[in-house]
Amino acid sequence: MDTHTRTSTGTNTAHVGPGRRSLLGGAVAVGLAGAAFDTTAHAVGAEAGSRGEGGRFQGKSVLITGATSGIGRAAAKAFAAEGARVGFCGRRVEWGRRVEREIRDAGGEAIYMRADVRVAAQVQRFVDQVASRYGSIDVAFNNAGIGGGKLPHEMSVEEWDDVQATNARGVFLAIKYEIPHLLRAGRGVIICTSSSAAEQARPNGAAYTASKRAVQGIVKAAALAYGPKGIRINALLPGTTDTPFVRPPGIPDPEWAAYKQAWGPLNVDGLERMAEPEEIAQAVLGLASDDFPYMTGASIAVDGGSTAGRKMIQPSGA
Ligand SMILES: NC(=O)c1ccc[n+]([C@@H]2O[C@H](COP(=O)([O-])OP(=O)(O)OC[C@H]3O[C@@H](n4cnc5c(N)ncnc54)[C@H](OP(=O)(O)O)[C@@H]3O)[C@@H](O)[C@H]2O)c1
Repeated sequence: MDTHTRTSTGTNTAHVGPGRRSLLGGAVAVGLAGAAFDTTAHAVGAEAGSRGEGGRFQGKSVLITGATSGIGRAAAKAFAAEGARVGFCGRRVEWGRRVEREIRDAGGEAIYMRADVRVAAQVQRFVDQVASRYGSIDVAFNNAGIGGGKLPHEMSVEEWDDVQATNARGVFLAIKYEIPHLLRAGRGVIICTSSSAAEQARPNGAAYTASKRAVQGIVKAAALAYGPKGIRINALLPGTTDTPFVRPPGIPDPEWAAYKQAWGPLNVDGLERMAEPEEIAQAVLGLASDDFPYMTGASIAVDGGSTAGRKMIQPSGA
């Protein structure tokens, strides 16, 4: 998946995630923490600014799955800052309420509803309630997803099924229940979160890569099915992004900042750093806007260059 780390020798590959403090210690210990990188220099402001005249999404309603944290949260805030009414879901009620409050406190309109994308009835109710509250669905961002980095022989069948049920079946369910609303309107835009891991497999990424490739497949077929009806559907492939998805819980900010600083140049060809969730959110808004009226069925990588190359330490003299 997207959360792998190479050391300076290029020989170790490991998964970044909860419980991998030893990896963090190791990465810094190999003397990389001094790599020249200012983690603040590239961060996009958490509050996406309005683009004037009420923003690009004034009067539009936007549905987002998985916006209680990370990329979905950043997108919810950015859409709302540009005038959209945002209905979003996730399972963690406290987190959802907090995002809802953040948006309303900033003067935006949003509603959080608890829904689990693995459960068809909950997805249907969520979609129908957003449509009924806001009168339509103009944009849907099907973003909910989980990781699950394990070697196939160490992964239980239940773990495999959970990754597919969330990442692939969850996107299918969202599209299934969104489309009737978009067909009624005769227009609409859907963006589904795949991953750079759909293009770049890792040894422990079978379940995740399979699920994110499935998202691309669903998007391509749906784009063909509903293009004639005025509905555009694209897949977004983020690279590794600084969200709870990759940041180990409880790690102090300075330690995490030092880790990111070391991690970027070793793992991301091109921009040599992790993305901030607000940067991915801006790509979502771009795809959802009227700026790309001819784009559908596409897989758009927003990964700082990760999938364009492959980091490799050259033997000296080569
Ligand atoms: N961060 C990265 O490096 C990266 C890179 C490429 C792609 N992605 C993809 O980007 C998407 C967002 O991830 P993130 O990085 O923003 O991580 P995150 O902060 O963990 O966000 C994941 C979101 O999905 C929701 N979710 C997970 N399972 C769900 C379920 N069964 N029902 C409803 N909501 C569910 C979570 O909400 P609850 O837990 O509250 O349910 C949360 O809001 C995912 O699809 C992920 O695969 C992430």
